[in-house]
Amino acid sequence: MSAPLLDVHVERMRFAETTVLQDVHLRLEARERISLLGPSGCGKSTLLRIAAGLERDFSGEVRVNGGDRAATTLGLVFQEPRLMPWLTVAENIGFAEGAACDRARVAGLIEEVGLGGFAEALPKQLSGGMAQRVALARGLYARPALLLLDEPFSAVDAFTRMKLQVLLLELAERHATALLLVTHDVDEALYLSDRVLVMDGRPSRVRQTLRVDLAHPRDRRDPRLAALKADALTELHSAQVI
Ligand SMILES: Nc1ncnc2c1ncn2[C@@H]1O[C@H](COP(=O)(O)OP(=O)(O)OP(=O)(O)O)[C@@H](O)[C@H]1O
Ligand SMILES: [Mg+2]
Repeated sequence: MSAPLLDVHVERMRFAETTVLQDVHLRLEARERISLLGPSGCGKSTLLRIAAGLERDFSGEVRVNGGDRAATTLGLVFQEPRLMPWLTVAENIGFAEGAACDRARVAGLIEEVGLGGFAEALPKQLSGGMAQRVALARGLYARPALLLLDEPFSAVDAFTRMKLQVLLLELAERHATALLLVTHDVDEALYLSDRVLVMDGRPSRVRQTLRVDLAHPRDRRDPRLAALKADALTELHSAQVI
């Protein structure tokens, strides 16, 4: 059996005297889509940062494809698009490689995220939803096997959010990219994911795993999603809140 794409075990992660995460296990297979739900402050962003290799001061282990993380690229998308205001849309997408970037790939990604005609626009000329489309394209530019997303759509209106969710699924499918998504939106987690992990309050661990065995495209009004939502909300209400 081959190793999972991502295998995280956090024995303990603490900031000063406060233990934030304790005995957290997270395994994610290639192309799998997992969402993390949990009370505010429970450590979801910290867990994502650990998975991304941005946080190293913890006891435990992160393995990517059974070993070296350098062998597999990870893409990151945050709540704010974090675009460079002085660079165009195209330059922001190829930012990691600067002038040496693959212009054809950048142009292809601009079309894929629905921003045809905006390659030379500056971030200040974009709506919040458009800026987040740029962030998705930039996250995919380096052909990541896994995209890590921390509340990527929480700053946009409900209708834009649904369109961005559909886009994210299309992109994940086309680029064969696994997704690890932090969200506070139970509907979003269930619509997008194969598995939803509900986390406990501090010290946090995975409290419950909900499997969403429904094919895509999913119907948001599917009663099976409603039943899973009820389960997720029960777990969230029971999660210890500080
Ligand atoms: N750099 C830091 N220094 C000290 N404490 C921190 C630091 N980063 C996070 N924390 C604390 O760790 C806990 C978990 O933070 P984290 O941002 O991971 O939570 P979260 O689940 O993502 O919350 P939210 O849902 O509000 O985004 C919080 O109590 C936070 O105050
Ligand atoms: Mg967070």
